[in-house]
Amino acid sequence: MSNPSDNAYFGDIVAEAISRRGALRAGALGALVVSTGVVGVGAALPAAADPVRDKESVIGGHGGNGGNGGHGSSGLKFTPVPPNKLDELTVPAGYDHSVVVRWGDPVLPGAPAFNFNNQTAAAQATQFGYNCDFVTLFPMGKDRALLWVNHEYTDENLMFRGYTDGTAATEEQIKIGLAAHGGSVVEIARVGKSGKWALVTSGRRKYNRRITAQTPMRFSGPAAGSDLLKTAADPHGKVVKGMLNNCAGGTTPWGTILTAEENWNQYFVGGNGVPEAQKANLTRYGVSTTAAIPSGSRRFDRIEERFDLAKHPHEINRFGWIVEIDPFDPDGTPIKRTALGRMAHEAATTTIAKDGKLVAYMGDDSRFEYFFKFVSKNRYIPGFDRHNRDLLDEGTLYVAKLTGDSPAAEIDGTGKLPADGAFDGSGVWIPLVSGNKSFVPGMTAQEVLVFTRTAADKVGATKMDRPEDMERNPVNGAIYLALTNNTNRTAAQLDEANPRPSNKHGHILEIVEYRNDAGATKFAWSLPLICGDPNDPSTYFAGFDKTKVSPISCPDNVAFDADGNLWISTDGNALGTNDGLFVMPTQGKERGFVRQFLTVPFAAETCGPFITADQRSVFVAVQHPGETTGATPDAPTSRWPDGDQPRPSVAVAWHKQGKKIGS
Ligand code: FEO
Ligand code: CA
Ligand code: CA
Repeated sequence: MSNPSDNAYFGDIVAEAISRRGALRAGALGALVVSTGVVGVGAALPAAADPVRDKESVIGGHGGNGGNGGHGSSGLKFTPVPPNKLDELTVPAGYDHSVVVRWGDPVLPGAPAFNFNNQTAAAQATQFGYNCDFVTLFPMGKDRALLWVNHEYTDENLMFRGYTDGTAATEEQIKIGLAAHGGSVVEIARVGKSGKWALVTSGRRKYNRRITAQTPMRFSGPAAGSDLLKTAADPHGKVVKGMLNNCAGGTTPWGTILTAEENWNQYFVGGNGVPEAQKANLTRYGVSTTAAIPSGSRRFDRIEERFDLAKHPHEINRFGWIVEIDPFDPDGTPIKRTALGRMAHEAATTTIAKDGKLVAYMGDDSRFEYFFKFVSKNRYIPGFDRHNRDLLDEGTLYVAKLTGDSPAAEIDGTGKLPADGAFDGSGVWIPLVSGNKSFVPGMTAQEVLVFTRTAADKVGATKMDRPEDMERNPVNGAIYLALTNNTNRTAAQLDEANPRPSNKHGHILEIVEYRNDAGATKFAWSLPLICGDPNDPSTYFAGFDKTKVSPISCPDNVAFDADGNLWISTDGNALGTNDGLFVMPTQGKERGFVRQFLTVPFAAETCGPFITADQRSVFVAVQHPGETTGATPDAPTSRWPDGDQPRPSVAVAWHKQGKKIGS
């Protein structure tokens, strides 16, 4: 937590009147779809000009097939997997699963086979990186695809025998750490006619690529070239080496990846040595300003002095961005898009506003932080790639401010619904900056983009319980935000959108933009899911019978299937069992019927998920299996997936008879 602002939790916020009563009821959402025709933008709808990108493929994901229209059953029929602490990936009866790609697997043609006891940085830079998070897939026909995976961070305690800390680490170990960050593009192929997919291990694999913490990148947008981005290594503030701590992400309609730099604050030392006037900027992003080496530091500064803030105080401003990468351009330079602001970016998921402008929704994942959206200045034009490629450089960045519609006294922290029957209300998107125009008093446009948290503080944005992934429902157009948890929220800090003190289990926020237009500046919201053990009276499952639902804790990543069912992966299950993947219908009579589809191995978090458009396959990333205090390669707490060292991996699950996932 690093937000000391005195922004209202709701306080004196003036609500804009929005005619919303009933809008979130199941039937009404279906009606919205009918009246507006809104469907989500494909996760990977490719550019028409490029024959490689298969526009009509059934495996693109998020395609939107009209779904169930808000009526009747969700079509979900599987028997939920029970909570467990097994060191294995479990799926429901009738399903199977396999590992697609694991830490160390060769990515580039010619890469050496993984050798745990003889790792080198040169090998790691050609092999699949560590802790996989965001997963997305770009079709190349029905049975081939490119898989993109973020490598968020490294856990050297599990990667190297005898590792103690970054100060004692060998230089090679530190270099391996740098190389194991970033992301991977790998070619995968369907196995037979099933929902199973496997890594392609031979042939040209011309798109396969490793991005690391050292890959050359460039800045674009209004803060590119800003004094705030200039360093000794880059006196023009235009280029940077690498990306750090890329957590979740999104895709663009023109078929590129948006990957989100999240907890980049942990990689820098020397915060005590920056000019005094800059220290508040570090503190606001959770960067230490004391002389002590932060605990757990990987000491990248021992290899590259840019990680020492005392020597290069602006270097840290060059991290914390949304990075755009074209998976079909293996030599392309990744682009840090400054117009989308700088924060602990969790994700950036895109959709199209009614007037054709591109919209990206983004969470800032820390306790008491905010959520944002970017709306492009120009319109998205299907197929006009050269035009679309600049959309993320010009536009308006907004932050959300929410107001409840029930009396504060009714938000008593017990989870009891207010008298009007819902934790709900209205909200406004407050503009922070548009191109070179700042809307924040006392801050320039470039300062707003580089110090976005401070800008949001000044306009009174609403402090949320760790805003993580956001996603638009392809069927009904509503937007969903995972709020993972916030055990620091006190009873005095409750509001209708964050109604539980010491919120261990988190909740889901549902937003209906005004007129269901992603470009709107006001919205209605409600909480359809307040997580935990259903026997806990503070939980809420959209009014669904709590005796039938699965316990769920710490929602992190969200995705939709083409029927508009919300898939939720969890990180940090505070109920004491393994994390997993859940599904919840968002409309119809099963709205709120949460069921657990899979569990991941011991001490892992579940990332992704990605459901293919044909709904025959679901991909998840299994991040940090066996990451428990004191675990080492010689005393691991997970041996997944191969029975020896734990290896973060991407897995796929499918129905053995080829049925839709969840059926
Ligand atoms: Fe890397 Fe917010 O999870
Ligand atoms: Ca209410
Ligand atoms: Ca996450």
